[in-house]
Amino acid sequence: MSSSVNLETQDAGTVRLTYGDQEIELPVVEGSEGERGIDISALRGSTGLVTLDEGFVNTGSTRSAVTFLDGEKGILRYRGYPIEDLAAHCDFVEVAYLLIHGELPSPAEAANFRSGIRHHTMIHEDMRSFYNGFPRDAHPMAILSSVVGALSTFYQDSMQVDDPDQVEISIYRLLAKLPTIAAYAYKKSIGQPFMYPNNDLDYCENFLHMMFATPAHDHLVDPDFAEALNLLLIVHADHEQNCSTSTVRMVGSSNANLFASISAGIGALWGPLHGGANEACVNMLEQIAADGGNVKKYVDMAKDKNSSFRLMGFGHRVYKNFDPRAQIIRACCDKLLAKLNIDDPLFHVAQELQDVALEDEYFVERKLYPNVDFYSGVIYRAMGIPVQMFTVLFSLGRLPGWIAHWKELHATPGKRIYRPRQIYTGQNERTVVPIENR
Ligand code: SDX
Repeated sequence: MSSSVNLETQDAGTVRLTYGDQEIELPVVEGSEGERGIDISALRGSTGLVTLDEGFVNTGSTRSAVTFLDGEKGILRYRGYPIEDLAAHCDFVEVAYLLIHGELPSPAEAANFRSGIRHHTMIHEDMRSFYNGFPRDAHPMAILSSVVGALSTFYQDSMQVDDPDQVEISIYRLLAKLPTIAAYAYKKSIGQPFMYPNNDLDYCENFLHMMFATPAHDHLVDPDFAEALNLLLIVHADHEQNCSTSTVRMVGSSNANLFASISAGIGALWGPLHGGANEACVNMLEQIAADGGNVKKYVDMAKDKNSSFRLMGFGHRVYKNFDPRAQIIRACCDKLLAKLNIDDPLFHVAQELQDVALEDEYFVERKLYPNVDFYSGVIYRAMGIPVQMFTVLFSLGRLPGWIAHWKELHATPGKRIYRPRQIYTGQNERTVVPIENR
């Protein structure tokens, strides 16, 4: 799997920094979409100063050619293709190929990629025993992160990060086995037997079959559900330097193997401020519905600085406009609920919450719009996916993005281990008093 890594930026002049009697000129670089950044590589060496930027709100960690997003305009493109086009014309496996390789596959390349995935969907039989060790109420994200990390114990022959063949087989194993690992986590939670993958089914059908079939009855996957899942995986597939992707890059920068890097990314995604927001959002919608649908009460709580309550599924570090993924998902939600003739009260609560919030000055002023997690949970519920599995499905979608960024990191000339600086604020030097004298 070769992938083009074009990380060229253009010279966009300089900025001058003066501090006391010191003065330094720092280069400004410009990316292919006109984004500009101050390259501070020489800052500490020249001035002894470092920068400080909690949460990296203003800090770019790298150059990247994988995904472009413009938060002000609500633009999202994978390798230059608008998310709306990809959602309309491609399936998830094609999009995974695009993110990982940099180009959409030809029919032959796509067939080869699908075949490569199909032949790695089973996990080692000894891995099934891991599931016996988890408590029945274990969160599936904990299981996912644990079992993915454990893949490195079974595939010790393919952990060299600088061996393209070993990286390729690891990528196939992850793309193929993550749905199996995920479905087994669900089966474990409901005490049902695990279903083996069926290589006659496509990626989404196979996952839904493993989720809902049992040895006692086969399960015919609803094509509308497979289509909806395909769309959801596509819109979740990448999102540039988000928290979990930055985690994958951070761990990968130490030359840790791909399995360990992805396992760490799963852990980061689990957080309710990140990928865990889809589970938290549906729990919030259920709480509002149970509370008589009193949407205004919860909007007021979200505005109250003395309350830690936040509207889950709202707001975004980058999008200060509608999240284009939320728009795509909402349309899919409308269509699926209508097709299934489901009148889900949570959907009505979500619609009312959106309408109320988007007229409220607090949300308008802070440009807080529904994000990717706001409507996805309503679709997952309609498909019979349990709430605790929502972030697991986010992981299935985000996997090709994590892989693409991990590969790009390792292909970057002069790649360095991630090791941020800090500003120390603790005690100044002091002398230990031995315990007998304390
Ligand atoms: C994802 O990075 C990515 O790309 C992530 C993601 C991806 O694809 O990888 O898009 C996926 O993680 C989407 C976000 C899912 N999380 C949620 O829905 C959780 C609820 N949202 C927030 O907690 C929040 O909006 C974040 C975490 C998403 C963004 O946080 P920021 O950028 O650090 O913004 P902030 O916390 O500084 O908020 C700015 C202001 C604050 O008010 P003030 O201090 O200025 O008065 O907006 C307020 C916040 O209190 N605010 C909210 C709010 N989100 C922000 N107030 C109420 N409800 C909210 N949801």
